[in-house]
Amino acid sequence: MLVDNPALLDHWYVVAEGDDLADGPIAVRLLDRPLVVWRGPDGTPVAAPDRCPHREAPLSAGRVADGCLVCPYHGWTFGDGGRCVEVPSSGAGRPVPPAAHLRTVHVVERYGLLWVCLGDPAAEIPVMEAEDDPTFRRINSGVDVWNVSAPRMTDNFLDISHFPFVHVATFGLPTNTEVPKVEMRDLDDHFHGYSYTVEVANEAGAVASGLEAPVITREMSSGFNLPFTVRSTILYETGLQHLILLCTTPIDDVTSYFTFVIWRNDDFSVPAEEVIAFDRAIGAEDKTMLEKVPGVLPLDQQATVSVQSDKASVEWRRRLAALMAGTS
Ligand code: FES
Ligand SMILES: [Fe+2]
Repeated sequence: MLVDNPALLDHWYVVAEGDDLADGPIAVRLLDRPLVVWRGPDGTPVAAPDRCPHREAPLSAGRVADGCLVCPYHGWTFGDGGRCVEVPSSGAGRPVPPAAHLRTVHVVERYGLLWVCLGDPAAEIPVMEAEDDPTFRRINSGVDVWNVSAPRMTDNFLDISHFPFVHVATFGLPTNTEVPKVEMRDLDDHFHGYSYTVEVANEAGAVASGLEAPVITREMSSGFNLPFTVRSTILYETGLQHLILLCTTPIDDVTSYFTFVIWRNDDFSVPAEEVIAFDRAIGAEDKTMLEKVPGVLPLDQQATVSVQSDKASVEWRRRLAALMAGTS
């Protein structure tokens, strides 16, 4: 369903963090296509199918030497833009066959993340203005694999009605089940979603919120950027903003990469790992729940029942279905 859809090829997906390339090439999988990613001669990332044109060895099992990717099997070496620059068995100075060059795919490093587009980018990577604001710091969390289809994850990240059930050990208040009317709007040029006020438990989140009261009020927004990116914003009463970019990438129809990135305008005094421990715990609760739900979330709105609190998800599914049908 997802992996066969041509429209999805023309969008950006996070496959790893830039730091993951420190020790050489890595193997990733996007829409069921195996890819190798490495840092080229000028330090910028390069991505290509993880298959040597010679005898199909996985290039990710090779090494990087002076920014060139060296195949582990017969040593063919790939330089700038994936050009094959050396075939050791042919001896120095001999021309290499034109078909030996790798067919690279688009890869961009942004927000500490490696974003790949397999086709021709139809939209830009969503802009997080806090990235260029010196009053904010960015905290990356690492990339995890969830045994969940990407649409189920995006649906979950737009949904607040599960807070009092899935998140009672972190911030959900069991009695706070009613969701105010959801009014969808463009939050900015990149995210479509809704704003809301929510009371949450603060005991486990005191480090992240900087507040001590057992129950606190957050001003929040949740919005999506097609196909599977969600931004959640939190404004605390102190003026502290905590922005979360939730990136979901289909490895295949029922497996996904997940990473989140935080931007905060705090005083930078609390160590990053302590700040994101709370978000990690919340993510683990979602993962535990979602890994119990089998299969792919149907984009046919009639196949599942939705209510007013699902309005954001319904709108996201409508737009995703149009994108995948080529009618958006
Ligand atoms: S398979 Fe890569 S060099 Fe032979
Ligand atoms: Fe959740």
